[in-house]
Amino acid sequence: MTKFICITGVSTGIGRALLDFFHQKGYYIIGSVRNHDAVTDLQSNYTERLTVLCFDVRDQEATQNAFSDIKNLLSQGHLELLINNAGIAIPGPLEYLTEEQFEEQLDINLKSVRRITNLLLPYLKTDNPGRIINISSVSGILNTPFMGAYCISKHALESMTEIYRRELRMFGIKVISILPGPIKTEIWKKNIGKLNPFFETEYGHLLKNADKLIEKSDAQGLPAERVCQAVWKAFTSRNPKTGYIVHKSPNVIRFISKVLPSLWLDALMAKTMSKGDKIRPI
Ligand SMILES: NC(=O)c1ccc[n+]([C@@H]2O[C@H](COP(=O)([O-])OP(=O)(O)OC[C@H]3O[C@@H](n4cnc5c(N)ncnc54)[C@H](OP(=O)(O)O)[C@@H]3O)[C@@H](O)[C@H]2O)c1
Repeated sequence: MTKFICITGVSTGIGRALLDFFHQKGYYIIGSVRNHDAVTDLQSNYTERLTVLCFDVRDQEATQNAFSDIKNLLSQGHLELLINNAGIAIPGPLEYLTEEQFEEQLDINLKSVRRITNLLLPYLKTDNPGRIINISSVSGILNTPFMGAYCISKHALESMTEIYRRELRMFGIKVISILPGPIKTEIWKKNIGKLNPFFETEYGHLLKNADKLIEKSDAQGLPAERVCQAVWKAFTSRNPKTGYIVHKSPNVIRFISKVLPSLWLDALMAKTMSKGDKIRPI
């Protein structure tokens, strides 16, 4: 029986690395992208064990139609895993982000995950239940100034992951979160210059080095293969953990997010920001 893995956002970055990883292991991948150039690129680079769906995750009708078109395909095999990966990061002070930017951030990183999960749940609820892995972020457990919309979307995704895990337990469906720190992907380049519009605000002096910091985080990011290894553990472990942090210092992240009192963390962030060299822009 064909073993399907569905991954959203496979054009670049972590999604593309996951596509390579599972394709090499012999799985049949259903991968989503949002532009037609990416469809052509993927179709010419992979074997017939890949079906590319093209839709913007914000477009509910297009999303529904895309999955409806592959009903027959899905019914010929077994959906072993859904990886909700597609995401963006919109930086900026909460005070100045527009309503549209805030909505876009939540729609792509959070609301679309529920829509896509619900469309695929009928194929995961089988005698041999499939799993769901959500690509969250350390920003799902740690709030960073000027990445507010992104952090809120990932905190809410952590909550959504936990609720699905508890609701879907009776079907035997395990729902797991992957929480990467900086990973070397296109997401960083997409944010170069994005903080410039806020230079004239009261926050400007804290943001002027943002591009350098984005470049630094990109250069020092872990390879996307590290995320693939964590996903593989979450997928294959008999009793997976609820979440896997992928970071150079996972224990530091656990300590500052779970143990350190929030007021101490506020002071620490204020101190590093005042030096102008440590704002983590994603
Ligand atoms: N890189 C990191 O440091 C890092 C750290 C923690 C968590 N993450 C998370 O990892 C996930 C993947 O990010 P990445 O770093 O691999 O970034 P990326 O290279 O920019 O990939 C993001 C993927 O999501 C797709 N996507 C974005 N908006 C979409 C939309 N509206 N509809 C359909 N597809 C859309 C992109 O398609 P296009 O190519 O068309 O834009 C792309 O395929 C995200 O959820 C991100 O939050 C990344």
